[in-house]
Amino acid sequence: MKRLIRRHLIDVVPYQAVQPLEVLAKRLGIPVERIIKLDANESPYSCSPRVMQALSKVDSHHIYPDPEHRELRSMLEEYTGLGKEYIGVGNGSDELIDLILRITLESGDKVINFPPTFVPYGIRTKVCNGEIVDIPREDDFSVNVEKAKSAIDDHTKVILLCNPNNPTGNTTPLYDIMSLLEIGILVVVDEAYYEFSGETVAHLVPSYPNLIVLRSFSKWAGLAGLRIGYGIFDPEIREIIYKAKLPYNASSAAQMAAIESLKDLDNMKKRIDAITSERERLYRELQQQGMLAPYPSRSNFILCQPMNGDAAQIKNSLEQDGIFVRYFDTPMLRNTVRITVGKPEHTDALIKSLNKLSNK
Ligand SMILES: Cc1ncc(COP(=O)(O)O)c(C=O)c1O
Repeated sequence: MKRLIRRHLIDVVPYQAVQPLEVLAKRLGIPVERIIKLDANESPYSCSPRVMQALSKVDSHHIYPDPEHRELRSMLEEYTGLGKEYIGVGNGSDELIDLILRITLESGDKVINFPPTFVPYGIRTKVCNGEIVDIPREDDFSVNVEKAKSAIDDHTKVILLCNPNNPTGNTTPLYDIMSLLEIGILVVVDEAYYEFSGETVAHLVPSYPNLIVLRSFSKWAGLAGLRIGYGIFDPEIREIIYKAKLPYNASSAAQMAAIESLKDLDNMKKRIDAITSERERLYRELQQQGMLAPYPSRSNFILCQPMNGDAAQIKNSLEQDGIFVRYFDTPMLRNTVRITVGKPEHTDALIKSLNKLSNK
């Protein structure tokens, strides 16, 4: 049947998504409650109690959701400081990455990418029949704007910049983003982790119609399983995104959950603060423990390199204690693990497990 499939899709290598809790627990033969899941940058806290309460009262699952996401976009006006004509909602920010590439790329068009970064950028570009142009980050993981500029030609349509960057955790300074914007092609700044860094360029969208900012409810609001994110677009681009998207892309449960999270901001901010202060503690604990060298992070995860030895071995050993972290060994990122910031007790368990391994 392959002859019926578009040729460029045959060789696409799929994203290695993380496995659900139940699968991990079964693999280790331990109860789900014993798993410490630090591999997908999810929130260690469940979502706002307001979300749980609102969802338990709903009796309208038989009715399609609002395809225009009116109430959520109105709530996001206050949160972002921009009018709802700038705001577009997606089935996770993942969907918006895909939609942006789908509305921009003709066959063979190019996308500038700064690896090591969020792996789906390359995959979505290939699925959309585009060509990814990798501009590797420098040793300190900063982006090289001059190299990006010199790689641009008439077929380059989009620059994808993750800020803070996943998995390295660093941010790109405003002056570098401004230089990229001056080029004139689309610059997508993926701010999935904005709430943990506090740095944004969303306010620049009205002055730079070539800027798109993407945000997520998966991380700070603990809604990864419900799939909801949004983008801040020039209104003309937003309209095209809405023409291209599936009509009911965000479920009514997901829209309601995002609205309730925004109504519970004071409470949610306390959780964000708990995660950022735990990030600093985890960093210090890792430094003291001595097995893994942590990179500074402005996000809800910390990238680490073994002081000596093998990251895969450390990952496997942590797994035996029910602790899951993300392992990378790619040409752009050799021998590393990325640890999501969890609750204090998760940090304690991680350090204990590392101590056990170093005493072996
Ligand atoms: C940089 C980045 N962008 C986007 C996403 C996807 O987020 P969402 O759950 O909103 O689709 C992730 C998820 O890990 C991410 O790390």
